[in-house]
Amino acid sequence: MKILMVCLGNICRSPLAEGVLQDLAKKAGLNWQVNSAGTNGYHTGEPPHHYSIKVAKQNGIDISKQRSRKFTSADFEQYDLIYVMAEDVLDDIKRIGRNNFVSEKVRLFLDESFPGQYKDVPDPWYGTENGYHDVFEIINNNCKNIIKKYTNK
Ligand code: 4NP
Repeated sequence: MKILMVCLGNICRSPLAEGVLQDLAKKAGLNWQVNSAGTNGYHTGEPPHHYSIKVAKQNGIDISKQRSRKFTSADFEQYDLIYVMAEDVLDDIKRIGRNNFVSEKVRLFLDESFPGQYKDVPDPWYGTENGYHDVFEIINNNCKNIIKKYTNK
């Protein structure tokens, strides 16, 4: 299965989601490809935010080699499942995807833990380091639920 994690800048939230789900899937013996992208392209080519790199590293995951890239309409053809970190990101990928938009492939990331509650992963970009630790916990718990769903473990 090919999974794409999407946020706005692809430097704070989705790089963590990529790193965490990749790590958990590997440990669960799942042959998944997990990548990430951002809808605004402001940080194209940049590594993840230093606090995202730091919290991931503290949890045994190296995301430092990731590079930000912009989400494209072709991603609807390349991926089986597209997780958006927030509702504004969903609006963006509808706009970018245009005729390629496939609603069946798209899910609000936290819907896996809180179905129907339309919860966003908070954007830590405007806050302090603490926000990145909180976001890591949210993402890690949700990724564990995704693994449970697909492995019945
Ligand atoms: P992210 O956070 O979407 O979690 O990567 C952001 C990073 C940068 C910007 C917005 C959100 N920005 O506008 O530059």
